[in-house]
Amino acid sequence: MNLADLEYAFNSELQAVKNADELARLKSRYLTNIADARKAIDFSKLGADDKRAFGSGWNALKKHIEDKAKEAAERFGGARSVPQDFDLTLPGLGRNAGAIHPIISTQLEVEDIFRSMGFQVYLGDEAVSEFDNFDAVNIPPDHPARDMQDTFWLENGMVLRTHTSSMQNRAMRELGTPLRAIFPGRCFRNEATDMTHENTFYQLEGMMIDRGITVANLIAVMKELLQNVFRRRIGEEIEGRLRPGFFPFVEPGFELDMKTVLKGQARWIELMPCGMIHPQVLKLGGVDPEKWTGFAFGLGLTRLAMLKYGIQDLRLFNKGDLRFNEQFKATL
Ligand code: DAH
Repeated sequence: MNLADLEYAFNSELQAVKNADELARLKSRYLTNIADARKAIDFSKLGADDKRAFGSGWNALKKHIEDKAKEAAERFGGARSVPQDFDLTLPGLGRNAGAIHPIISTQLEVEDIFRSMGFQVYLGDEAVSEFDNFDAVNIPPDHPARDMQDTFWLENGMVLRTHTSSMQNRAMRELGTPLRAIFPGRCFRNEATDMTHENTFYQLEGMMIDRGITVANLIAVMKELLQNVFRRRIGEEIEGRLRPGFFPFVEPGFELDMKTVLKGQARWIELMPCGMIHPQVLKLGGVDPEKWTGFAFGLGLTRLAMLKYGIQDLRLFNKGDLRFNEQFKATL
């Protein structure tokens, strides 16, 4: 093929190119073709004028191929050139990418389990009204339960929520009935910190309200949760038990414990308070307790993450110490 034929062939093939890959292949094939065309010429047989004519024609065609390919590459958005000193074989920047914090990965896992049971995830605020945090969950101003939750008060009269139960009233009002929702999030109490107490911790609250909900539904949902969070790790059925517990916003109220076996020794761990939603709490949420019943629970996410990862000191979660955080990269 002479140079004019090569140019014609290149132009027509270029029209048919559909993506950056095809374009790169076309360009390299034609650059090889014209290099071959040059090798095929016996320059010793050409006069000086012919040599010059071939040389400038060849250079012009090479430039034509490169220019047209560049133009087309811009169309495909793939024209970014790689700097000369860029080593494509080096490991990617992903090496230094962050990791998902163990509390958040626990939260995401629990969210998934609840979604599979038809619960929606409903997020709330960290600064809430005194009403939402206390009164709406049956803790009036003089109730001793307020003393158990040493509260950070803001200057505008709001509080940093001491528990995710502060979302119950809003959820009932905004989502209505029937209701299946969980509210994960950060809570705050003016606590002296030690290995098991922090002023900032995570809870995951849940509510299910429908016609004829009973303790049996509560047990079934809690069982499903525990089986999913722990069975795969422990490799056996999880045993749980309900003990009576008191919280002003549930009646009856329970403590859900989980049995763990450590070095052959069985131990019950207090995992989750829960109960049947108090009729007064339903009323304040605009739900008629004659028609609807429901259960609520308050899972300690921080505590669950400690159990799940075998972390002894919960202060590590909030410290921001990279030596701790980086250990969880595998959970990405
Ligand atoms: N809000 C309670 C706390 O932080 C936990 C709790 C107990 C939540 C019982 C509930 C429940 O929904 O039913 O101590």
